[in-house]
Amino acid sequence: MAFVKNAWYVACWATDVKPGEMFARQLLGEKVVFYRKANGEVTALQDRCPHRFIPLHMGKLVGDAIECAYHGLQFDCSGKCVKNPHGDGKIPAAARVKSYAVAEKHRMIWIWMGDEPAAFDAIPDYGVLDSTDGFQTSFGYLQIPSNYELMGENLLDLSHITYLHDGYLGSPEQVGADQVLKEVGNEIHCNRWMPNISVPGIFDLLYKQDGKPVDMWTNMRWIPPSCFLLDTGVHSPGGEREGYGWYYGIHILTPETEKSTHYHFAAAMPPGTQLSPETDEKFRTLRRYAFEMQDRPMIDAQQAEIGDNDFWDMKPVLLSVDAGPVRMRRAIQKMLQDEAARATQRKAEVNVTAGQTVNA
Ligand code: FES
Ligand SMILES: [Fe+2]
Repeated sequence: MAFVKNAWYVACWATDVKPGEMFARQLLGEKVVFYRKANGEVTALQDRCPHRFIPLHMGKLVGDAIECAYHGLQFDCSGKCVKNPHGDGKIPAAARVKSYAVAEKHRMIWIWMGDEPAAFDAIPDYGVLDSTDGFQTSFGYLQIPSNYELMGENLLDLSHITYLHDGYLGSPEQVGADQVLKEVGNEIHCNRWMPNISVPGIFDLLYKQDGKPVDMWTNMRWIPPSCFLLDTGVHSPGGEREGYGWYYGIHILTPETEKSTHYHFAAAMPPGTQLSPETDEKFRTLRRYAFEMQDRPMIDAQQAEIGDNDFWDMKPVLLSVDAGPVRMRRAIQKMLQDEAARATQRKAEVNVTAGQTVNA
């Protein structure tokens, strides 16, 4: 499967991995089981016993190890088999499962599934989700039955909010937005500025604008390969950003398979935002409704039409709003090519070393 592997992906919310329990999820086409060691640190192992291929999450935790449910082999958090209860108890060398580099950061469990060393300092910064920053946060999850790049295009090109989310997140005048595209390091920023438009429902709710016009912005960042951070809000026409009336939208995609995606989303309101419990509930419901009942069916239908065809072979018509998504797709292709080239290089180096050893 063509996924960039040497990168950080969000496996799940940190709260999904509960002490004393196992949590199983397919990521980038691989089945993975997560659990916490006695000291609370998260471990991720391939979710398949090498004996008769039973998912390890069907077994049980024994201290910091997993015991397979079928014949009782035990695997420690490095993936090594540490107990064979049968015969002389000898442990075959092949009795091990893959273990993955993981990190718990910004209330999420991050996983690095490639063979290259995990770059722990490259985990994207979602500090706004850390409660210590004073942002008010809400969290959600959806499974999307489509390839993650289709969902990524939906997030990077927010011109669709005028149509698909009309009245909720969008309003008719947004279609005339000024769009500025920037490449910042390896990120793509797609900023839309919409002066003097009718206020979309979600901001009428947050900003108590009573239907009066606003200036609005949606500044979306793509952090490769599949993380997004949106800064969006409104203020009075000609005014300036205030302490409220805006929020960060956190949108994080992780491929499950070629045609399904884990979608973790959250919102972080700036410190001092005063929302009544009813307004807060409406805000959460409205966002979830937009993603689940409006975006998801659209992406699902798109994936069904595309099927197994190559996206570019279908010759999609390109509009001005596609500049961001096209650059994102190209950047992902480049990452895949670079990763393949590095793997070939490593193989060649191993062969040279092996040759030298044989000749020595
Ligand atoms: S399948 Fe796991 S021990 Fe046999
Ligand atoms: Fe949308």
